[in-house]
Amino acid sequence: MNAEAIITFARVESDWRLVGRIEDIPRQGARCVKTGEMTVAVFRTSDDRVFAMEDRCPHKAGPLSQGIVHAGCVTCPLHNWVISLENGRAQGADEGATRTFPVKVEDGSVYLKL
Ligand code: FES
Repeated sequence: MNAEAIITFARVESDWRLVGRIEDIPRQGARCVKTGEMTVAVFRTSDDRVFAMEDRCPHKAGPLSQGIVHAGCVTCPLHNWVISLENGRAQGADEGATRTFPVKVEDGSVYLKL
């Protein structure tokens, strides 16, 4: 590996931000992370998978972090649109998408990449 490759790798790794512990996120719920420009909801499923997306429903900007997580989706608390946690897209006949972000868990610590 040459020096340029090492620098690039280090920069990519530093993009991951520690946002907390997985046990701080309720199963089938979410915790919010505020960035300078938006709020990101980090969701935890019943089988301990984590997903992250902007806390803004594609319908009328409802707070998805307050919705119910089920079967890889979250139901918006305002008008019940169902949003995929994988890709942020509205399901069924509804159209639109919310930005999603990479998130990972290592030794119980949750890292978010913005
Ligand atoms: S704002 Fe989410 S369903 Fe209307």
